[in-house]
Amino acid sequence: MHTTFLRRALLFAFSFFSIIYSFGQPSPFLTGEEDLPKDYLSKEFHAGRREALRQMMPDNSVMVVIAYPTRTFSNDVEYKYHPNPDMYYFSGYKEPHSLLLLFKDEQTDSAGNKYSEVLFVQKRNAAAEQWTGKRLGAEGSRIRLGISMSLNGEDFTSFPVDFSKFDRIIFDRFPVDIPNGRDKADLYDLVQQFKQKAAIPEDYSKEKKFDNRSYREITAKLREIKTPEEMTLIRKAVEISCQGQNEVMKAVRPDMSEMEIQGLHEFVHKKYGAEDVGYGSIIGSGENGCTLHYEENTKTKIGNSMLLMDVGAEYHGYTADVTRTIPAGGKFGDAEKAVYQLVYDAQEAAFSTLKDGSKWADAEKAARDVITEGLVKLGIAKDKAEANKYYPHGLGHHIGMDVHDRGTYTNLKKDMVITIEPGIYIPSNSNCDKKWWGIAVRIEDDARITENGYELLSSFAPRKIEEIEKMISQKSALDDFKLPPLKSAEKKAF
Ligand code: GLY
Ligand code: MN
Ligand code: MN
Repeated sequence: MHTTFLRRALLFAFSFFSIIYSFGQPSPFLTGEEDLPKDYLSKEFHAGRREALRQMMPDNSVMVVIAYPTRTFSNDVEYKYHPNPDMYYFSGYKEPHSLLLLFKDEQTDSAGNKYSEVLFVQKRNAAAEQWTGKRLGAEGSRIRLGISMSLNGEDFTSFPVDFSKFDRIIFDRFPVDIPNGRDKADLYDLVQQFKQKAAIPEDYSKEKKFDNRSYREITAKLREIKTPEEMTLIRKAVEISCQGQNEVMKAVRPDMSEMEIQGLHEFVHKKYGAEDVGYGSIIGSGENGCTLHYEENTKTKIGNSMLLMDVGAEYHGYTADVTRTIPAGGKFGDAEKAVYQLVYDAQEAAFSTLKDGSKWADAEKAARDVITEGLVKLGIAKDKAEANKYYPHGLGHHIGMDVHDRGTYTNLKKDMVITIEPGIYIPSNSNCDKKWWGIAVRIEDDARITENGYELLSSFAPRKIEEIEKMISQKSALDDFKLPPLKSAEKKAF
């Protein structure tokens, strides 16, 4: 009784305060925002990106962005939803089952309201939200995202947009496997509606009006140049990833498993507030490092071999992509040292070419020349063709909202953010001395292009041989983290 009374009194006081506080603005008490991070992209950022997009769109055109589909993880359980970066970039909306119309020219509805974009979102639904969490809804999108024409998905059917009047309708290729759920305004239905309204034929590839090419071109040119607001988040994602690398270097022991190492990285990321990883963490010990995107991480003891760790924290939608390769036993062996130094030198050679206006191809060539010459000198490869087999991937890529971010690959420009990631991978039974077998090294760093050079964003984690060995020799807070042995492991199978 007593507690109920107290609770009621408190609730009353809270709601009274909330109402006063919320005058003119949504109250944090009402929205539960008081415990949320404060450094999300602002609605002004998204509005600015839409404006920049409009400048690049052709005359009399409309661009349509559709959400990524949801995906089944297990029976009625879905994978954690990851928004389509284009939807997030242009609107800030992170939920599934949404569609965004972006007009080159301002539109006017029958009531005289002016608008330049329309966002169709998931409708609020108390029952659904009890299971899967809060939805922003149409009103929330108007307030939070600043998109005045935000409507529920079900309103798309009756929304009076005359697609026939546009010279160009710009959209990305449709996902081929959108699930058709019970909801009559889910992504499947939104896409069907769009196809009908715009009279998109089955094979639209030959018709200039239906334009997939411009979609990729325009979004690449926009997204490849990072704004100061984006840089703040990318810097943070990269620094967090480096701290993950550093903590693992301090904690690493040969009796650890690949999965345990993965857990340590991802724990550090989350401790710093990074919601996710931007791609499956790659923890390859010994020969597993030769599999470029090894994500199984199932080896139970990493042993004394080299450990390749390619892990990127995703912070508020932006991902890092950082690789360090370290000797799990603490000291590089002679052969390991030789291969590592070669990759390091190749990376340095590529770095030295970077600046506003330099060519991707020149950075590529600088790194490949060092590796080819070095592998031949060490007697690992006899010629360029054989050397290329040990370095079977490109030098790098743009990063941003995608780990392999939208962008162009001719000239580098100021405020592009790219990876530089040469590697050498020598599987067993390679055509070289046995002492090289099983060595895999990749060093991957993230850099912003500047007017006269580059800013190394991932300088927080050591790359030099002696600095890595020094970091490994440091004590870790995790050295004393011991869990009890599992009791169930003592039971015999019957
Ligand atoms: N982590 C994927 C890549 O390096 O491209
Ligand atoms: Mn990469
Ligand atoms: Mn990587």
